[in-house]
Amino acid sequence: MVTITALTAADRDDWTPLWQGYLTFYESAVSDEVTDDVYRRLVDADVLHGALARDDEGRAVGIVHWLYHPATWAIGPSCYLEDLFVSPDVRGGGVGGALIAHVRAHAVEAGATKVYWLTQRDNTTARALYDRVATESGFVHYQIGL
Ligand SMILES: CC(C)(COP(=O)(O)OP(=O)(O)OC[C@H]1O[C@@H](n2cnc3c(N)ncnc32)[C@H](O)[C@@H]1OP(=O)(O)O)[C@@H](O)C(=O)NCCC(=O)NCCS
Repeated sequence: MVTITALTAADRDDWTPLWQGYLTFYESAVSDEVTDDVYRRLVDADVLHGALARDDEGRAVGIVHWLYHPATWAIGPSCYLEDLFVSPDVRGGGVGGALIAHVRAHAVEAGATKVYWLTQRDNTTARALYDRVATESGFVHYQIGL
């Protein structure tokens, strides 16, 4: 059984190792300044939103972050799911699916018309889950780093 709640200031110490695990998964790192800033914005929940999954014993086992943006093809906003991470020792137990379902429910409540996200083509573990709960858009992702 997993419990998912919105991130609060009190969750910071539980969130940090999951955030670091996520960055390590992507062989990335950000400065403490960025980590502090993103956590403040997640707790403020003005633009960024975040939730934490806890197991039966209250242990933090997963995080998800998302945001809304206006869209030109609909009156309601679109929901972009930016970060998703589950502790390696509980993967395959439904936590990732539950975190996506949490965002979906929040997005419905917010009047959004879709939830979407990106993943690496070869992230077969994540895609096994995504193929079950969503539809691959067929779009190709481009970017200009600034
Ligand atoms: C992607 C990720 C969030 C999924 O979390 P999860 O808690 O394992 O997700 P679920 O248990 O809900 O679904 C995992 C699917 O993987 C499969 N699976 C089964 N056993 C598994 C295991 N031991 N480990 C991983 N996946 C397993 C199943 O197909 C399952 O689908 P099902 O619900 O049809 O059974 C997690 O693997 C993760 O954090 N990966 C590293 C970071 C990452 O890739 N993030 C996403 C970036 S876009």
